Amino acid sequence: MITKTLEITKKKKRISNTRKFSIISYGCQMNVSDSEVVASILEGIGYTYSNDLNESDLILLNTCSIREKAEITVRKKLETINAIKKNKKNLKVGVLGCMAERLKEKFLIEEKIVDLVVGPDAYRDIPNLLKEIEFGNDAVNVLLSKEETYADINPSRFNTNGINAFVSITRGCDNMCTFCIVPFTRGRERSRDPKTILSEINNLVKNGYKEVTLLGQNVDSYLWYGGGLKKDFNKASEIQRKTSINFAMLLEIVAKNFKNTRIRFTTSNPQDIDKEVLETMAKYENICNHIHLPVQSGSDEILKKMNRKHTVEEYRELVKKIKKILPDCGISQDMITGFPNETEDDHLNTLKLMDYVKYDFGFMFKYSERPGTLAAKKFEDNIPESVKQRRLSEIINLQLKHSYQNLFNYRGKKVKVLIEKESKKSSEHWCGRNPQNIMVVFPKGKLKIGQYADVTILDNTSTTLIGQII
Ligand code: 5AD
Ligand code: SF4
Repeated sequence: MITKTLEITKKKKRISNTRKFSIISYGCQMNVSDSEVVASILEGIGYTYSNDLNESDLILLNTCSIREKAEITVRKKLETINAIKKNKKNLKVGVLGCMAERLKEKFLIEEKIVDLVVGPDAYRDIPNLLKEIEFGNDAVNVLLSKEETYADINPSRFNTNGINAFVSITRGCDNMCTFCIVPFTRGRERSRDPKTILSEINNLVKNGYKEVTLLGQNVDSYLWYGGGLKKDFNKASEIQRKTSINFAMLLEIVAKNFKNTRIRFTTSNPQDIDKEVLETMAKYENICNHIHLPVQSGSDEILKKMNRKHTVEEYRELVKKIKKILPDCGISQDMITGFPNETEDDHLNTLKLMDYVKYDFGFMFKYSERPGTLAAKKFEDNIPESVKQRRLSEIINLQLKHSYQNLFNYRGKKVKVLIEKESKKSSEHWCGRNPQNIMVVFPKGKLKIGQYADVTILDNTSTTLIGQII
């Protein structure tokens, strides 16, 4: 009895002594996934997660450099965190992710606003870097790697609904779209060992997760041949090449092994998604019929300047193929407006392409020049802000029109929804997505989070379907 009390006291003491960390993720889903890897590494050295910045000993910002606006948001947050730091001298602040990679020592040495700078491939070094801080040394590691995929690390899902999880399958990008900073901040493309992907999903399923999203900058280009960069595949041995696993194969293995789990993936690049992938999607009911298929522009001239690896016609053919093989497949887009030298005709061609595809939803952006990219070196950012803004509004308005019309067409139909959370607007409604990745809201009935609901659609906005359980 006495020993037990002692044990409890010891435990309590240990808990009260543990250091706390917070991570805030900006930008893409890859950062959310990476933050879970970082959380796992920190928990391994005795830290516990806290969502209260004021009680944290270590605050990490996992940052995004994709557009200037994303960087400004991070800088504003750093200002508020540094205000907390004034009253809490022991607080350590770190910058992770793409901004860390892009700006390197600048944060630490020139600006002196953070204690730690870690690039996307160097998270395993965080425990050593934290020690360096204690010794009063600079703590920077922005080395990019040819192999790192964090394959063996079981991510710590510190901010989860227990239903959906991201599973990273590739890192980096070789596409070199001229506007994009990602190939510079996340390095060359490499794929993760499929065994570790399966074991991560297995863990998730055992813990009650119902949906996994396979993640990568370019998932369709996944290629496992024993490790190493995608670009070095040709140098691999014959046996490595013959036994390699591509994305369609991986998708099939995952779908077969986890029949009761919903499988999603993102992002797809038009030149890499092939018939095999589409046929695999058609073959397995648990692979959700939604493809996020960024196009960026509907003009061949602009696509060429962007170094996109497809023409408008090839993209249209691909969409035709998707609709033939997967008639009910949702398709979404990313679009950039106001790329250097974009003419009114180029813009009209973008609207024309949108009219052809009639995307379900999309993410639309004004071109933001990123230092060091090929576009920044080669072209002047010469479209006036007012023109960029007007074109963006036209694109957004057209997308809203298509979204509304597509969602309107669901009225009277039955959809299968995985219940994910309570609706933000009403505690009496559930919210979840159909396979096409569209939000559906409906009265709770007797169902619970994590269950599937068959819902008849009665109403819609341009972003949400509203219905009732059948
Ligand atoms: N300016 C504007 N949008 C960009 N994107 C990537 N780089 C830029 C940039 N420099 C957009 C693309 C990409 C999405 C993730 O972000 O549309 O698909
Ligand atoms: Fe950037 Fe293009 Fe790679 Fe996407 S495919 S991450 S836009 S370089």
